[in-house]
Amino acid sequence: MKDADCVEFLQWALPQLKMRWPGFRRVRAQACKRIQRRMKTLSCPDVQAYRFYLERHREEWTILDTLCRITITRFYRDRQVFRTLMREVLPDLGQAARARHARELRIWCAGCASGEEPYTLAVGWRLELAECFPDLTMDILATDADAGLLSRGAEACYAWSAVRNLPSNWLAEAFQVREGRYCLRAEFKTPVRFELHDLRSPLGESDFDLICCRNLAFTYFEEPLQLHVAEAIHDRMLAGGVLLLGVHERLPEGGPDFQIVSERLALYRKPPFPDGTSSR
Ligand SMILES: C[S@@+](CC[C@H](N)C(=O)[O-])C[C@H]1O[C@@H](n2cnc3c(N)ncnc32)[C@H](O)[C@@H]1O
Repeated sequence: MKDADCVEFLQWALPQLKMRWPGFRRVRAQACKRIQRRMKTLSCPDVQAYRFYLERHREEWTILDTLCRITITRFYRDRQVFRTLMREVLPDLGQAARARHARELRIWCAGCASGEEPYTLAVGWRLELAECFPDLTMDILATDADAGLLSRGAEACYAWSAVRNLPSNWLAEAFQVREGRYCLRAEFKTPVRFELHDLRSPLGESDFDLICCRNLAFTYFEEPLQLHVAEAIHDRMLAGGVLLLGVHERLPEGGPDFQIVSERLALYRKPPFPDGTSSR
């Protein structure tokens, strides 16, 4: 399939999946490759034939939806973001948790892929902050719509390309090399719970101190769906909690009440109660 054909196809199909083409522009190769493979399975000779197939088989849209999941990720993605999380955001959230006598810091990583983002937080917390907060444990709910990615996350062994951004002491202390792969040591895996969850449906848990929703809804979803997700996130978060998006993402206009903490790092805060407290 020619790139131009795939582009035309995506521009036609994505809005029907409530997704937006501009989010896919730079990363479309991944989706195009999968669509091409699917066309081969269905013996569709060209993209026009696949369009006809979609028009005649409603259930194929669910499959196309999975083919359009972009899964690019790595540990410590956007260095400055993780430095700020470790130096400012997590210590502040830890102090606030302590002030309300909480025993744990609750984090939700939505669209966690195979665990690179939640494990980065777990490793950073244990190596940099746990000593200052012996009274707090970190509990990270890591969700994704792709069951295969989640089972890779549970296994927690990665290629060099996934871990190479990590500070060298984190890499040395948290991983052991097995058959050329970097496997996370058990004690760093403990805080992370993986769960299959589609961000477009409601989540049971709430009261999160920090929610990471990076490089998913606010890149690939259409604006009305982005607003819906922003509302759901606001609803699941403690007053005073922090929301982190991908560095190139912004919350849509007209959404729920979040204050901008850093526009550059796409950090937002749900306003605390008027007396400055959060609650659980
Ligand atoms: C581009 S990756 C981002 C991973 C990580 N958050 C990061 O920023 O490095 C997007 C992830 O979202 C997942 N995803 C896509 N659509 C989803 C949905 N509707 N609900 C939950 N996860 C979804 C994909 O499977 C993929 O793992």
